[in-house]
Amino acid sequence: MTRKIDIFDTTLRDGEQSPGASMNTEEKLVIARQLLRLGVDVIEAGFPISSPGDFESVRRISELAGDNAVVCALTRAVDKDIEVAADALRYAKRPRIHTGIGVSPSHLRDKLRIDEDTCVERAVHAVSFAKTFVDDVQFYAEDAGRSDYDFLVRVIQAVVDAGATVVNIPDTTGYSLPEEFGARIAYLMDNVRGIEDVTVAVHCHNDLGMATALAMAGVRCGARQIECTINGLGERAGNTAMEEVVMAIAMHGPELDAHTDVNTREFTKASRLVSSITGMNVQANKAIVGANAFAHSSGIHQDGVLKKRDTYEIIDPADVGAGESQIVLTARSGHAALRHRLEELGYELEGEELDRIYEAFLELADKKKEVYDEDLESLVNERDREQTALYSLEGVQVSCGFPLKPTATVTLRGPEGDLSTVCEWGTGPVDAVYKAIDKVVQVRCDLSEFAVQSVTRGIDALGEVTVRVKAGGGEVFTGRGADGDIIVSSAKAYLNALNRLLTTAR
Ligand code: KIV
Ligand code: ZN
Repeated sequence: MTRKIDIFDTTLRDGEQSPGASMNTEEKLVIARQLLRLGVDVIEAGFPISSPGDFESVRRISELAGDNAVVCALTRAVDKDIEVAADALRYAKRPRIHTGIGVSPSHLRDKLRIDEDTCVERAVHAVSFAKTFVDDVQFYAEDAGRSDYDFLVRVIQAVVDAGATVVNIPDTTGYSLPEEFGARIAYLMDNVRGIEDVTVAVHCHNDLGMATALAMAGVRCGARQIECTINGLGERAGNTAMEEVVMAIAMHGPELDAHTDVNTREFTKASRLVSSITGMNVQANKAIVGANAFAHSSGIHQDGVLKKRDTYEIIDPADVGAGESQIVLTARSGHAALRHRLEELGYELEGEELDRIYEAFLELADKKKEVYDEDLESLVNERDREQTALYSLEGVQVSCGFPLKPTATVTLRGPEGDLSTVCEWGTGPVDAVYKAIDKVVQVRCDLSEFAVQSVTRGIDALGEVTVRVKAGGGEVFTGRGADGDIIVSSAKAYLNALNRLLTTAR
């Protein structure tokens, strides 16, 4: 059996320290429920002395969690903080106080303005005082990532002797390199007496984009608890992202001699929930939970994924609750991806037919960033209409605008393959186009309905036009046309209706 790594979530404490990410108590409870569904081991619910809201959140989450998770409250190495944290945790079944002090030269000299002996004294006092309220006391050595190795050993030895159950080694400023951070953990494992009887935790910040790598280096060298947040939320550049470390452990468990008990299928939901509550968007290319994490856009990748998913995917999206891999149809997609999507939509196209649709698809994809299902349906329907047409549209040009007189030049191919080009003016560009078409097709009918709608979303969406024309005898014929240019859609729709009228009349 591999080592169980405890997942300590601090979305509600360090995550909330992200500028602009503050949450009220009700919102924190919603997230805490999701953390319980994820099955995290510890929820750091807040810093009770910092505000009545934080106090209330710790109190309510303590009631909510019951036996299902340890609930932790943060303090400085200050008696009042510890008393208030203990009070907020009074209903917790598994309470933990998380106390600590800065240990780096910068923190001792410039922030706390104390010497090393005073630091050790305050650390020991804080742990001993917290132990008078709860059994489970976690100590953090703030800015440990920039501390002197031997001073860090001295502090950690002192707090372990004072009864700390968990020692947290934060790289508060995200300064370390992974190998160096791992070596620091290994040094503590080798030099602190009794360290095997406590849990060593890592808490890493992402200032150099390495928070996940730092946490993994710590685990490799002996850490048994990772502090992390959903979506990597946290001070400045954020913390280690829970979804990243948990999936890294899931992928490399045997090499790391590690596993977690997290229900990874809840990750996508957790990510969306935290993003919507905090208003902090998740970048599209974010590992595991980004919108593009399982989307394939290049033709080569799409072909591979359609043959076997793991050619370009190391994680099954279902394992993180992300549904299915996405094939995004763009100008880089190949025949294989287009055929696959068309089949899913119920169209079985092969050979020349597929080639024709592929060409139309590429033309559209060049104009639009992404081609949606509705666009494909329109392309296929457009092809069906063209195949049965007596007259086909070969070109249309309009000039209009204030104070111009709207004019249209239309070129049609007739039933014998002959080309006709005519020019007309009208009350608007569509009217001008329709008059030009009438001049070539020469059929008596009235336009009784005209409607435009966009097929997909966005400014570059296809516009679909539906028209109804009434023939001399009263019969009504419907025509449809789709194109990125609504003047072209309008011309296609009208011609489609006229073709149907003419075919019926024959
Ligand atoms: O980054 C840090 O050092 C912290 C501590 C309070 C654990 O957030
Ligand atoms: Zn932090």
